[in-house]
Parts: sequence; structure tokens; C-alpha cells
Amino acid sequence: MIFDTHAHYDDRRFDEDREELLSGLFKSGIGRIVNVASGLPSIQTTLSLAKAYPEIYAAVGVHPEELSGLNEETIEQVRQAAACEKVVAIGEIGLDYYYLGDDEKKSPEQCKEEQKYWFGKQLELARDCHLPVIIHSREAAKDTYDLLEQHHAGEMGGVIHCYSYSKEMAQEYVKMGFYIGFGGVVTFSNAKKVREAAAAVPLERIVIETDCPYLAPVPNRGKRNSSANLPYVLETLAEIKECSVEELEEATWKNACDLYGLEE
Ligand code: NI
Repeated sequence: MIFDTHAHYDDRRFDEDREELLSGLFKSGIGRIVNVASGLPSIQTTLSLAKAYPEIYAAVGVHPEELSGLNEETIEQVRQAAACEKVVAIGEIGLDYYYLGDDEKKSPEQCKEEQKYWFGKQLELARDCHLPVIIHSREAAKDTYDLLEQHHAGEMGGVIHCYSYSKEMAQEYVKMGFYIGFGGVVTFSNAKKVREAAAAVPLERIVIETDCPYLAPVPNRGKRNSSANLPYVLETLAEIKECSVEELEEATWKNACDLYGLEE
């Protein structure tokens, strides 16, 4: 069975055929999916999906690019949501320095500080709720690592999703107690660094993900992604790890269950 550890099926790109698509997936080898909220509105839609499908679990949190409207009161909504049945993680949370220049009212430094503040807050929230964290980190390798260390995030555990940094950094995260999430990007011809990282991470620490509707693997690169594409990710990773697809599928299923505290 395949475990998609990171998906966004509440995205409007699935509005037209969500039900049909999901029931098809569960009939064809996809065993479990964690739907990950990106911001406050997405928390409610994520919880509804988890309620509607036995195979879908929920992660609740606020993405570093969705911070507008977030304050000490609204963060309480995340805390309340985290207490709901089927919530298995706080996420996705983290740092994203890619678009920092886009805000006319704030300097890049102010944006960074704001992101770090809410990342820290949500790490503490995860600790209070005894839940693992799903980390989004882009162009912010050092700050992400430092914050995770400061907050002793290894004690909560979690996953560095859509991993994009060096193999050395991946090994540091593994040492800290994290799983490393790989998806469609491993199949891209220009993703040598990500494949090197996958080669360096022990099999017991790898989980697979779509991040759908984004990041569809080759041969469907550029199209809307779904968990139906995960066999392409498994194939590529199996080549990298020099094991069979079956072995990798089994290992990543077990790892994902461990990560989210679910029975196998
Ligand atoms: Ni995502």
C-alpha cells in the first residue's frame, strides 16, 4: 500500500472531480493520505475531508506564505483544530524566503522575523498537542535548522517535506530525529542534488509525498498532480536506493505510519 504523506486535496483545482478521483485512488493501491492545511481557511476544508474519508488524515497549521490575518487569537483556532479526531500533525509550518521581496509594506528582514515568530509559536503548539510537525522550508536552510534545534523539535519529530537541501543537511535532520519527504522532484532531470540527498538518507527515514496539485513527477511533469503518480516516485527512489519497488513501498508505508503515530 502507498502512503501519501503530504497532499492538498482541498485545493480548488480538485473541485471538479474530487470525489471521483479520491474513491478511484483508494481502489488502486493508495492506502492512506495526509491532507495538509496551508492556512486558516484550509484547516476547515482539510478537517472535512478527513471526516468524509476513512483513509484521509489531517494536518493543521499555517504555511509561512499564508501568515496574513494570523494573530494570537486566530492561532487559537489552530490549537482547537489540532484537538480534532484524525489530526496527526501540525503543518505545514516553516520558513520560505523565496518571495520575500514581494511585500511592499514590509522589508525582507521584517518578513523573515514574522515568519520565524509564527514558526516558533507553532512548534510550541505542536509540543503542547504532542504532535509531530510537517516542515516547509525553502531558501531558509540555516534558519530552519536553528529554530528546530532551539525548540528541541526532535522531541516532537516530524518530516522535512519536499526536501530540497544538501545531503549533509539531510543527515543532520535525520540525526535530529526527522523523516525526509521526497516527491515528484526526484524524477526531474535537473534535480541531481535532491537525488544525492535521497541516496544519503537511510531507508528507515524516507517517506513519499505528492504535494498535489503541485510537483507532478516525470512523465506528467507540469500537469495537475495526484497520488496516482506516486508509483513514478517509488520507481525513481527504488533505483536510487538500489532496492525493489515493493521493498520501498513497504518501508515508506511503515515509516509514514511511525511518523504520524498510526497503526500499520
Ligand atoms: Ni504542501
